[in-house]
Amino acid sequence: MKEQIERIRAEFQKALAGADTPEALDQLRVQFLGRKGKVQQLLRGLGQLPPEQRPEVGRLVNALRDQVQQALKEKKASLKPAVPREWLDLTLPGRKPPVGKKHPLTQVLDEIKAFFVQRGFTVADGPEVETDYYNFEALNIPRNHPARDMQDTLYITQDIVLRTHTSPVQIRVMESQQPPVRIIAPGRVYRRDTPDASHSPFFHQVEGLCVDRGVSFGDLKAIISEFARELFGEDIHVRFRPSFFPFTEPSLEYDFNCVFCRGKGCRVCKQTGWMEISGAGMVDPNVFKAVGYDPDIYTGYAFGMGVDRIAMLKFGIDDIRLFFENDLRFLNQF
Ligand code: PHE
Repeated sequence: MKEQIERIRAEFQKALAGADTPEALDQLRVQFLGRKGKVQQLLRGLGQLPPEQRPEVGRLVNALRDQVQQALKEKKASLKPAVPREWLDLTLPGRKPPVGKKHPLTQVLDEIKAFFVQRGFTVADGPEVETDYYNFEALNIPRNHPARDMQDTLYITQDIVLRTHTSPVQIRVMESQQPPVRIIAPGRVYRRDTPDASHSPFFHQVEGLCVDRGVSFGDLKAIISEFARELFGEDIHVRFRPSFFPFTEPSLEYDFNCVFCRGKGCRVCKQTGWMEISGAGMVDPNVFKAVGYDPDIYTGYAFGMGVDRIAMLKFGIDDIRLFFENDLRFLNQF
């Protein structure tokens, strides 16, 4: 009987080594520990032994049963990965990332750029911290010239300023290339202003410059009028008023029909029916001389545009400061 026990133990150990799925382990359990299993048969066989041997053999069979149980349990545990495998619930709704959008000023700037790029202009860039030379001197605004009072300049040193307009980019571009020139230069500009609904110490302009043989005042009026119609619709009118800038001659300022009242007069346009956009004019010969262009051969027009004003018109915004507060309740509307 002891031999039989050892045989079954050996048999179990061999079978256990070959069982490496939970199903195979289950089969082994039935085979050895089940009601008709091999261990059970041994226990039944005890009855045939002489009574004095029964306790000892009984203990051996019980030990075998415990060993088989324990071994099966351990093997089963070793088959399970230590960490339960993550599972993917494909029925869960996905997580929606918050979708950003372009700032209203960027949207308007994209439209402005698209308009001019379609007409052969390229986009130029210049520094916001400028020298006195580019911001004033080369633009025919010498030191102590009264025209400097037009621009409330923020000085960093006596010779370095925060640019008060994008016009210095005109000079930088013309210095770096020969005509023909067709560029726009969008960017931020700075003035010493107390913030209110229509003033901010920084705002945005788009400079335009076109220089070639035979460029005329008519070309300037045409492109600005076309621009106004493209952005605000066919029935918009543009008004040109004589003005003065040291770097253009003749100079003008231009207004668009108020898009809210279409010129009738309302709160937004302060009852005038017009919205000021910015200045423009024919490039002054002194500016051409500063960059080494021959004013007897070339003519050109230049214009500035207030991007913030155009965006206010387009979206019906009545306070420029809203653009710079980054309040999502405001920004999400556009
Ligand atoms: N630089 C001028 C301003 O800031 C606008 C302007 C640009 C005028 C180009 C004429 C030509 O007000």
